[in-house]
Amino acid sequence: MGQKLISDPVPVEKVFPGKVWAKTVAQLPDLQGVGAPRAENCGKCHEEIYKEWKSSTHSEALSDLQFQAELSKTSSPKWICLNCHIPIQNQRENIVVSLNHGDYFQPIEIPNPGFDPIMQKEAITCATCHVRTDGKGASYVIGANGKTNPPHPVKIDAEALRNRCYDCHNETYELNESLVCSFQTGGELKEASKHFSEKTCVNCHLPSVQRSFVIPALKRPKRNSHKHAFIGGGVPKRFELYKDQIPGGYKPGIALVGWEKKDSDIVVKIQNGNAGHYLPSADPERHLKLELVWLDKDRKEIAKDKIRYGQDWEWSPKARKVADNRLKPKEIRDWKTKIFSQEAVSVVLRVYHVRLTDTTSDYVEKYTVGAPKEYEDKIKELKKHYPHSSLVLESEYNWKTKKVSNTALPDLFKLNESRRGE
Ligand code: HEC
Ligand code: HEC
Ligand code: HEC
Ligand code: HEC
Ligand code: HEC
Repeated sequence: MGQKLISDPVPVEKVFPGKVWAKTVAQLPDLQGVGAPRAENCGKCHEEIYKEWKSSTHSEALSDLQFQAELSKTSSPKWICLNCHIPIQNQRENIVVSLNHGDYFQPIEIPNPGFDPIMQKEAITCATCHVRTDGKGASYVIGANGKTNPPHPVKIDAEALRNRCYDCHNETYELNESLVCSFQTGGELKEASKHFSEKTCVNCHLPSVQRSFVIPALKRPKRNSHKHAFIGGGVPKRFELYKDQIPGGYKPGIALVGWEKKDSDIVVKIQNGNAGHYLPSADPERHLKLELVWLDKDRKEIAKDKIRYGQDWEWSPKARKVADNRLKPKEIRDWKTKIFSQEAVSVVLRVYHVRLTDTTSDYVEKYTVGAPKEYEDKIKELKKHYPHSSLVLESEYNWKTKKVSNTALPDLFKLNESRRGE
């Protein structure tokens, strides 16, 4: 980029007026009573919250192998990607001051003297949501409670804190014909909120827990605290993190309403029972894969059927959504099928939340070049290192005895630790 002549610098705000992701969060000075506003420092007192956050995808938003693979493509305007994935100026080696000719592929950058490499690795860190500068050389913490007695300055603004999610999870923008950012989770929630008492992302994704906000040594009372594992679709970024999903608050969006038999038809009734938005939401590649397997009396597989709930996009020549059969909040669907043969006695339903397909990861493994050394080898063996999908529901229906047996969620997640690929 240094080669190109800087002749026509255009301010970023002029190219992307009003866009939160077009700017970083302003450089944060040290926080009084804490020091550098790094998660590892917050964690000295907020130990449990720190551990939960550490297991979240937020803390992996930079080290995410798929992110690193995509970031290395020349078609990615890196600084824009980083503005959502590592959004605080302290996390950036360079500061984008303007765009040459207003072209987002030609950012004009200067080195950042306040760059903090430790904070960079923390990705969507505590400070992303909680710390801002007063612009006069001091930082403060944004809280939602008050009547606490912290060693650091606090401003109470529950609204701002809770609405911060929308800045990244509710953005649709077409940068160019093939680069479209499409996250509409916030809008989907607003549209559906009449069905729910849970009106905010926090209600479901930061479940309440009575505990002290800090380590016991600080002797603070128990309060209404919130788990910070930010569990979503139940597909963590590393296999070791499967064990943290259920304790962190994981609940499948999909619920089995029940099985029905009508003559030779079997109907599986399923619902988006728990998600306050479409199922699935967010990244267009996410989908639910539902599978039915017929078993004979010796539990031998004799037939299979499957369907997919998700979005379908065409990426070239122009990015375009061609289909969308996701489940709206509380929507119920019937999947009707036939008793397959005289030999079959039961049928098993399995639902997988797929974040990454084998076809995409084959491509990523083969064609990614130029990712940083520390990620490169793992990207070449993406299936070995990166969970692609999770089995989130399993139920068997025996239509002779009418018996339904559902596999317990902890057993499924034990299994997920050793599954690989889609
Ligand atoms: C030296 C210990 C310590 C460190 C380090 C620390 N905190 Fe705190 N923090 C506290 C204490 C103590 C409270 C008050 C708890 C209480 O009284 O129940 C608190 C309260 C809070 C609250 C709740 C405020 C409210 O009223 O809603 C937030 C949010 C918070 N801290 C965030 C942070 C963040 C983010 C960091 C790191 C940038 C951090 N803290 C670092 C000790 C610490
Ligand atoms: C407006 C904010 C925003 C911008 C800009 C942005 N992302 Fe993201 N990104 C998100 C959010 C929110 C998620 C989480 C959604 C999800 O997991 O489905 C995410 C998730 C991802 C994931 C993980 C996908 C998954 O299904 O878990 C990858 C990979 C990714 N982004 C790559 C990129 C790249 C490459 C760019 C730049 C071209 C970029 N992002 C720009 C907000 C953003
Ligand atoms: C600065 C941008 C940003 C903000 C603010 C933000 N997120 Fe995220 N969030 C992301 C990105 C990026 C990812 C995906 C990281 C990855 O997959 O590598 C993500 C992932 C998630 C996931 C995990 C999805 C999954 O299944 O893997 C959940 C749940 C989530 N965010 C909820 C929230 C909530 C709730 C808030 C507000 C309290 C919030 N986020 C605020 C950017 C943000
Ligand atoms: C993606 C945004 C986000 C990130 C990242 C985040 N928090 Fe929070 N945090 C929140 C929200 C939202 C609340 C308020 C929940 C409410 O009261 O509605 C909260 C509440 C708190 C509280 C008040 C006590 C409680 O549990 O409600 C403390 C303390 C706190 N966070 C500390 C931290 C620390 C320390 C980190 C990093 C290890 C962190 N937070 C990371 C969004 C975030
Ligand atoms: C009524 C509860 C509820 C509310 C409110 C809610 N979510 Fe979710 N969310 C869920 C459940 C349950 C899942 C798991 C869905 C699944 O099984 O894939 C989920 C999954 C996600 C995912 C991963 C994608 C997916 O579909 O699995 C993201 C990202 C996410 N939520 C973000 C948000 C954000 C941002 C908000 C606020 C705008 C929000 N959620 C509000 C319950 C909720």
